[in-house]
Amino acid sequence: MDHTKEILQQLPAALLPWYQEHRRDLPWRQEVSPYRTWVSEIMLQQTRVAAVIPYFQRFMAAFPTVEALAGCDTEQLLKLWEGLGYYSRARNLQKAAAIVQAGAFPQTYRELTALPGIGDYTAGAILSIAFHQPVPAVDGNVLRVASRLTGSRDNILDTAVRRRWRGIMESIMPADAPGAFNQALMDLGAMVCLPGGEPVCDACPAAAFCQARALGLQRQLPVRAGKPEKKVEHHTVFLLLQEGQAALRQRPDTGLLAALWEYPHVPGTLDEADAARQLEQWGLTPRRWVKSLKFRHLFTHIRWELTGYVAEVRGTGPADWLWADKEQRRQLAIPSAFEKLTREWA
Ligand code: ADE
Repeated sequence: MDHTKEILQQLPAALLPWYQEHRRDLPWRQEVSPYRTWVSEIMLQQTRVAAVIPYFQRFMAAFPTVEALAGCDTEQLLKLWEGLGYYSRARNLQKAAAIVQAGAFPQTYRELTALPGIGDYTAGAILSIAFHQPVPAVDGNVLRVASRLTGSRDNILDTAVRRRWRGIMESIMPADAPGAFNQALMDLGAMVCLPGGEPVCDACPAAAFCQARALGLQRQLPVRAGKPEKKVEHHTVFLLLQEGQAALRQRPDTGLLAALWEYPHVPGTLDEADAARQLEQWGLTPRRWVKSLKFRHLFTHIRWELTGYVAEVRGTGPADWLWADKEQRRQLAIPSAFEKLTREWA
């Protein structure tokens, strides 16, 4: 491990000048405040920078302050979040805003991680970027960079290994530029030390001391052993149309995509005959089958394999359904897991 640290100690001096020249010009970097850093880091959890940018800008325009977020209409917030996924992030932001607005923005690791939606990585990012505290922010990108630079074969999915990397990163952080250092690592991971077999080693400021490069191990590192397979679920989803309206229902208050609106669906893969029987069970009469299609949606731990039917129907369906026209639908948060089916809507 000493050798590891010795290698990584060379990193700040190589990385910081590179960052000054090559850093990505991102909206949350143009003007930094605890609120902006917090919102951007929550949006960036599990989500790519390019996808986040327009959402961040719309969010800041709609909710420019912690108070505005705390007091906003949750349905408006979820609508703004539509397409970004992992909606509990939006709800947690609002919950945390209600707590934060009562006092000064929390500036310690303990206070931050006590807020809903803020874990170890996000707390490190906020403390270093907005408050200039030397706290590391170690995610999969940083683990990949660190494993490659040091030639480490330690399994980055192992909690103890991750904790160790966190300690090492903390020990090599430059005290005078913690925010720049963490963000430089993010940019290096996103632009140069890319996952898979495609790192751009020629453009890397750490190439001279990178062990993976010296040994040709870029493809093999980092080691991710024992990664559980995603659980696969099959569902059949119905876009049921009637006089310009489509049937929607609200998901349960807890669990995946809690309380969002969805098109009616049932477990399993139904063929057309089964689908027709399902309509009957809902008390509906099919008038015209418009389309059937297959699509897929990936969550972190689950893969949905979806069969979709678009049909014109007659009848009211179950009591808890809402028949919504385009305008009403525009106001409701409908997760993108169902998006492909929506596109078939005439
Ligand atoms: N990913 C997570 N946080 C980030 C940030 N502040 N800048 C760029 N990418 C990130």
